[in-house]
Amino acid sequence: MFGSQSGTAEELAKNFGRKLAALGYEAPVVDMAKFREVDLTREKYLLAVSSTWGEGEPPDNAVDFWNHLESAEAPRLENLSFSVLGLGDTDYKIFCGMGKNLDRRFEELGARRFAPRTDCPLEFEEPAQAWWSSVTGALHQLAPVQVPGTVAAAGEKEEEEVPAGYSKKNPFPASLLVQKRLCGPGSPKDTRHLEFSLAGSGLSYEVGDSLGLVPRNDPALVEELLQCVGCSGEESVLTPENRETSLRAALIGSYSITGISRKFLKDFADRAKDFYLKHLLLPEMNKDFQAWCEGREIVDLFLAFPQVKYAAEELVAVLGKLNPRLYSISSSLKKHPDQVHLTVARVEYESRGRRRLGVASTFLADRLPDGDTAGVFVQAAKGFKPPTDPAVPMIMVGPGTGIAPFRAFLEEREAVGATGRNWLFFGNPHRALDYFYEDEFEAYHASGFLTRLDLAWSRDQGEKVYVQHLLARQGRDIWAWLEEGAHFYVCGDASKMAKDVDDALHELIATHGGMSTDDAANYVKQMKKDKRYQRDVY
Ligand SMILES: Cc1cc2nc3c(=O)[nH]c(=O)nc-3n(C[C@H](O)[C@H](O)[C@H](O)COP(=O)(O)OP(=O)(O)OC[C@H]3O[C@@H](n4cnc5c(N)ncnc54)[C@H](O)[C@@H]3O)c2cc1C
Ligand SMILES: NC(=O)c1ccc[n+]([C@@H]2O[C@H](COP(=O)([O-])OP(=O)(O)OC[C@H]3O[C@@H](n4cnc5c(N)ncnc54)[C@H](OP(=O)(O)O)[C@@H]3O)[C@@H](O)[C@H]2O)c1
Ligand SMILES: Cc1cc2nc3c(=O)[nH]c(=O)nc-3n(C[C@H](O)[C@H](O)[C@H](O)COP(=O)(O)O)c2cc1C
Repeated sequence: MFGSQSGTAEELAKNFGRKLAALGYEAPVVDMAKFREVDLTREKYLLAVSSTWGEGEPPDNAVDFWNHLESAEAPRLENLSFSVLGLGDTDYKIFCGMGKNLDRRFEELGARRFAPRTDCPLEFEEPAQAWWSSVTGALHQLAPVQVPGTVAAAGEKEEEEVPAGYSKKNPFPASLLVQKRLCGPGSPKDTRHLEFSLAGSGLSYEVGDSLGLVPRNDPALVEELLQCVGCSGEESVLTPENRETSLRAALIGSYSITGISRKFLKDFADRAKDFYLKHLLLPEMNKDFQAWCEGREIVDLFLAFPQVKYAAEELVAVLGKLNPRLYSISSSLKKHPDQVHLTVARVEYESRGRRRLGVASTFLADRLPDGDTAGVFVQAAKGFKPPTDPAVPMIMVGPGTGIAPFRAFLEEREAVGATGRNWLFFGNPHRALDYFYEDEFEAYHASGFLTRLDLAWSRDQGEKVYVQHLLARQGRDIWAWLEEGAHFYVCGDASKMAKDVDDALHELIATHGGMSTDDAANYVKQMKKDKRYQRDVY
């Protein structure tokens, strides 16, 4: 079974399924969203592969399965033997939370763990391969079958059919129609509105979905890196998809050349023969490794150890793949047929005396002229949708770029003539400079379609005013809306804002609902189960 949001766990699980079939096992691969189609009380072995999203939460397709497993109706699983592979990212506080939860819960329900759980960081290939070896080793002992041939390793590249139509594996080259600044001169932010054409792609999306975007690295950084490495850029190399190209083209379009991975550092530390770098890679030094990586990029290593050189093929062998970035879609197809709009904050900061540029956001803002194309695909978000009943009220909290999906929600509700009331909380530094889509929201508000509009301008006065402060001020009315069945949505920064808004929601429910802290927590939990509290945070 797989729990997967952006397809990594799904691809791995399908890969494992093919390999198990090649080994002679009957091993259907089941989407956790379809958990009711399997009777786990009758199954003998379960391999569960799941990523973690939000803050330690299940991916959308696994939410119902997880709620079911946690509930009193969960069956006893005494006949089942299981093993869990978790996918995650060590940058998150609750690393591989869903994998850990599944592992614990299967055991609580009486199932036996036949191979230990593995928690994979973003570079999942090696640990996933080790897990696969331990799982197949144990299966050979417990349930031997005839082995018809050799089996490829997990994570190993296979010739795979690219599915028909445009997808993550086969992104659509969408041309940029419009790009404009959403912040005035002097703003501390630089956020852009972008419109792409989907004409001829056959792609469609629902509001709430995200757009996957294939970025290209900054050519100036690539040239600097080529010099440091000691290559001309004309050398022939293979891309991660096994296509032959020049090193320069591969560094621009195929490989990640900024963040430092463990794999890269290990190789570099050996070449530099540097004790401290090697020491950082010890398992017990993980926190120090993470802290050391902050504000450093691959080029910093080459500048610090100029004697270290690489041949072209040696370099690409230790670089990771350049991953697509996700952006919340800020348009509705009903209002903008054949178009997709994004609201993107340009990432630029200084660290260790160098100016650093976010790869995808500066590609969009600085290096993609109007009319040029970028590879895109639609990343569906089953768990972030406006109410299916158009009469149900909705409360939307989206400061900064968090506004993106709510512009889309409002366009959609307007287009279908939804009668439900709409309440928007938006925030940014200055009203005069950072009021994204001001004309649109003010017009919605004036017409009464946007029933209520609360704006938190954080830097227009001495004290910070954030969306959660306005939520607290409006607590009594929000509580009334919630009791009338309103859905509550949050989008934007996960590191602080989403947590603070969650605290404010608990607080206002306790205060205005006259509840204890525990009861307010249960109320919020129930809202999540009823899909009335949905978040798109990053
Ligand atoms: C579901 C989802 C929806 C999203 N929607 C949107 C959206 O609508 N709009 C939007 O703008 N973004 C959105 N994002 C974020 C987006 O995907 C990218 O992460 C963001 O644009 C940065 O990508 P980048 O390639 O420009 O930066 P990268 O090259 O990936 O660099 C970002 C990294 O730089 C480092 N960094 C950044 N600032 C600093 C600093 N001040 N000091 C030190 N290090 C720093 C951090 O390590 C950070 O992870 C969304 C993300 C997800 C997962
Ligand atoms: N480093 C960069 O250059 C850069 C650039 C863009 C985005 N990002 C990251 O991308 C994400 C989204 O950025 P964004 O432009 O959409 O907006 P943002 O940084 O989330 O800011 C939007 C508004 O939210 C306010 N805010 C700050 N902390 C908050 C909190 N704890 N609770 C509620 N509101 C809070 C901000 O106020 P104040 O800013 O006045 O505190 C601002 O008014 C963030 O994680 C951000 O760190 C980084
Ligand atoms: C918005 C967002 C939230 C995430 N939250 C977590 C988290 O809380 N814990 C974690 O370990 N990994 C987290 N991750 C990392 C994913 O689990 C990881 O990228 C995984 O490989 C995705 O697999 P999938 O494509 O199968 O969904 C998060 C990733 C994103 C983009």
